[in-house]
Amino acid sequence: MKKQNKIYFDNSATTQIDKEVLKEMIPYFNLQFGNASSIHEFGQKAEAGVLNAKYIISKFLNCKPNEIIFTSGATESNNTILQGVFSDFKGHLITTMFEHPCVLETAKYLSRRGVDVTFIAPEKNGIIDPQKIFRAIKENTRLISIMYANNEVGTVSNIAHIGKKLAEINEKRTNKILFHSDAVQACYFRDMDVKKLRADFVSISSHKIYGPKGVGAFFMSERAKLSPLMYGGQQEYGIRPGTYNVPAIVGFGKAIQLISSKDHKKIIEKMKKIRDYIIKEALKIKGVSLNGDKDKRLENNINLLFENVEGESLLLKLDLCGVACSTGSACASGSLSASHALLSMGIKPENAHGSLRISLGKYNTMEEAKKFVMILKKSVIQLRKFSPFK
Ligand SMILES: Cc1ncc(COP(=O)(O)O)c(C=O)c1O
Repeated sequence: MKKQNKIYFDNSATTQIDKEVLKEMIPYFNLQFGNASSIHEFGQKAEAGVLNAKYIISKFLNCKPNEIIFTSGATESNNTILQGVFSDFKGHLITTMFEHPCVLETAKYLSRRGVDVTFIAPEKNGIIDPQKIFRAIKENTRLISIMYANNEVGTVSNIAHIGKKLAEINEKRTNKILFHSDAVQACYFRDMDVKKLRADFVSISSHKIYGPKGVGAFFMSERAKLSPLMYGGQQEYGIRPGTYNVPAIVGFGKAIQLISSKDHKKIIEKMKKIRDYIIKEALKIKGVSLNGDKDKRLENNINLLFENVEGESLLLKLDLCGVACSTGSACASGSLSASHALLSMGIKPENAHGSLRISLGKYNTMEEAKKFVMILKKSVIQLRKFSPFK
């Protein structure tokens, strides 16, 4: 992949498409351009691309191809699952306070419409305590939705353990509780075998794993039931109607296939080395600490708290120096609000504002990390000189 001069450390936001993925997609724009639902040859060739991608993804998740539903991304997957299970706005939902907004805001919407929602707070280290989930279960609980890895602090919860315990609880219940995990950030790094996770729904997204944007999927176990969000054709068993985005689906399949390639382990090891180097060097700066558990975190995630530094100022300064990171803050309607994920972990608002996410990708190098550390150290010193917090 062609390297740019700039350092891209925002891979949790999106990744650069892999050239092998791009190559696989191109024929589906101009040669196999048919509508995958048409029965003529053009349609059949496009459909073959969709089915092949579905087959690859089902192998990866260890499920049947007909348990995969293609969508436009994880936002749509998560909305379809949550709104689909609670289409009658009845019953109880358990989720966490630090889910991605596409789960959190959907849960809040359902709550406004009458669904009883319990939001579990993560522990200080950004891990969900499974006991808190089990204690929250009620007679009318219908769905538990817990993210696999957090997108801001990269902390990884033990989804397989939660799934196993929930299966035991379900054995004693007539009204079974469905289990969903938003696995968007974990997909590249963790075991995605849905049988081991004991999940009924698992959401994944292509653009976080070196695939194209605008395509995602979710696993839906055969026992799970959903009302569709949209009505139309019979694509995806009527759960997600609409003409297939064939090039994107083909690219998504290739991106998943690359995760199973033999050099994947080495890629993760390289990221871990770079991550640990940056953490070690950054913690040498006075007033810097790591947000989220040191060990139970993704190999590509570094989330640093800088005392007496404004996160957005640091982000902009780094951008001027050619480094792209992100803050834990979201810019909402002109006012900067502190990250809900960091706040839910008990981090004070002023510290949440001073946090920076560095998310590594497979194209990053140790040279970039060394350059970044130098830039970071200088930037923090300069910003603190003019800090109003002093
Ligand atoms: C954990 C998590 N869930 C869901 C999403 C939404 O994914 P998409 O961009 O495919 O809608 C993201 C994207 O940042 C994410 O990190």
